[in-house]
Amino acid sequence: MGLVLILFFFFSLLSFISPTYGYDPLDPNGNITIKWDVMQDNSGSQDLRVWIFNYQLFRHVEQPGWKLSWTWPGDEVILGMWGAEATEQGNCSAFRGGQLPHCCEKEPVIIDLLPGAPYNKQFSNCCKGGILSSMTQDPSKYVAAFQMNIGGSSTDTADSSTLGIPGNFTLGLPGYTCGDPVEVPPSKFIEDHGRRQTQALATFNVTCCYSQFRATPAPTCCVSLSAFYNDTIIPCPRCSCGCQGQPGAKCVKPGELPPVLQLQPNGVAQPVVQCSQHMCPIKVHWHVKVSYKQYWRVKITITNLNSVKNYSEWNLVVLHPNMRSVTQVFSFNYKPLDQYGKINDTGMFYGIQFYNDMLLQSGRIGNVQSEMLLSKDPGIFTFREGWVFPRKISFNGDECVMPPPDEYPRLPNNGHAGAMPMPCIISLSLLLLTTMF
Ligand SMILES: *[C@@H]1O[C@H](CO)[C@@H](O)[C@H](O)[C@H]1NC(C)=O
Ligand SMILES: *[C@@H]1O[C@H](CO)[C@@H](O)[C@H](O)[C@H]1NC(C)=O
Ligand SMILES: *[C@@H]1O[C@H](CO)[C@@H](O)[C@H](O)[C@H]1NC(C)=O
Ligand SMILES: *[C@@H]1O[C@H](CO)[C@@H](O)[C@H](O)[C@H]1NC(C)=O
Ligand SMILES: *[C@@H]1O[C@H](CO)[C@@H](O)[C@H](O)[C@H]1NC(C)=O
Ligand SMILES: *[C@@H]1O[C@H](CO)[C@@H](O)[C@H](O)[C@H]1NC(C)=O
Ligand SMILES: *[C@@H]1O[C@H](CO)[C@@H](O)[C@H](O)[C@H]1NC(C)=O
Repeated sequence: MGLVLILFFFFSLLSFISPTYGYDPLDPNGNITIKWDVMQDNSGSQDLRVWIFNYQLFRHVEQPGWKLSWTWPGDEVILGMWGAEATEQGNCSAFRGGQLPHCCEKEPVIIDLLPGAPYNKQFSNCCKGGILSSMTQDPSKYVAAFQMNIGGSSTDTADSSTLGIPGNFTLGLPGYTCGDPVEVPPSKFIEDHGRRQTQALATFNVTCCYSQFRATPAPTCCVSLSAFYNDTIIPCPRCSCGCQGQPGAKCVKPGELPPVLQLQPNGVAQPVVQCSQHMCPIKVHWHVKVSYKQYWRVKITITNLNSVKNYSEWNLVVLHPNMRSVTQVFSFNYKPLDQYGKINDTGMFYGIQFYNDMLLQSGRIGNVQSEMLLSKDPGIFTFREGWVFPRKISFNGDECVMPPPDEYPRLPNNGHAGAMPMPCIISLSLLLLTTMF
């Protein structure tokens, strides 16, 4: 009874925490920060540098990339831009003679240049087609930057005091919401091999947070399980991501050609999944393969069931109490994510560049596989009660739907049936503790 009360307490705490949008217990500090540096005030115009930092452990920005937008407070226009470009020039008819501004829109939409842009249009950290890696996966590619020169909309104002800081920042990426700009201590820049520091005139930060719920109303990934000691394969729960035959749920049967690509307004292809009882574009299979004296071996298979998408730089985050004892991982990269100091139960898997970092659309080689060896921690390791199965899995940062614990493949001759066994409840409460602290 006491335990039930404690559990109830945990659940109510969790449901209290969850609604804070953007909060992901696996990446509690994750955010995308936009930094707005006022570099120089000329008479009538300002030089600005804008940076986008992807401070997320495992969520990355894929094609078609970020599309940064804001609302100018007054009649500011972008005179010139390096390292990025505005999608529309807009109505610049107020300007006569000389060179027309780069963009006169009230709400400009800025996109990154493509790799190999002309040298005189480049800026450091630019030109990745809007793609940002996560901090863990490729620390050299998580920043984007561009420079611009702004002025008032009439050519003869020699006063830059009217130039303001915009609001309403958006990244043009599903699931992200940005806060208001906050003035922070000015950025410092290192010059002369670190012997001199210069600083911005003013710096503003905008923090953008991700929420899976805002990105997609339905899950996009599910997990199936099996083990060497039981013939049953526990499939993804029925209707994990959608139900076959539901109105609006389109799918392609094996061997059928996918329909013509349908782009959503944001340029992302609408997923077209292969027909299945779970209707998820991504399926992760966790197979407990072998038990050795001191080690056990798991095979992980990720299958792409989306007929119209290749997942580049995919990643998989796994929560399991034995992750701290990962001894060897074959054919995937692996990095532990120690978000909570000592509790080392989460790790990230991702593809090896040019080998399997691209998860091809289904119908091609639509899956990637890896095996890992974990050492059996004395005292906690057990094949009983589904302990060897993951507690949580996310693909590209979105949580996957797991089969319910009471359906996990069971050891033969296991008397338990029905109610969740005690060790499960204890490990579940431990899990809740670990995700909370
Ligand atoms: C954004 O992420 C960085 C790096 O993890 C962190 O230091 C910062 O506190 C975060 N900002 C917010 C507002 O959460
Ligand atoms: C363009 O802007 C000018 C004023 O700056 C305005 O008079 C004109 O009507 C605008 N043209 C269009 C097509 O909106
Ligand atoms: C943000 O957008 C809202 C509605 O579109 C507008 O009323 C508001 O003035 C904008 N804020 C800024 C700072 O431009
Ligand atoms: C503002 O953003 C920059 C770049 O992400 C970061 O280094 C700095 O610490 C941030 N400042 C504050 C006060 O959050
Ligand atoms: C996925 O990659 C394959 C092989 O590189 C390519 O032929 C196919 O067009 C790509 N599909 C999409 C939707 O980009
Ligand atoms: C977590 O486990 C990894 C090995 O999987 C190890 O390299 C790392 O040092 C561990 N971190 C802590 C805090 O124990
Ligand atoms: C395998 O696991 C399933 C699901 O828990 C269970 O119903 C079945 O009895 C197990 N098979 C054996 C041979 O124990």
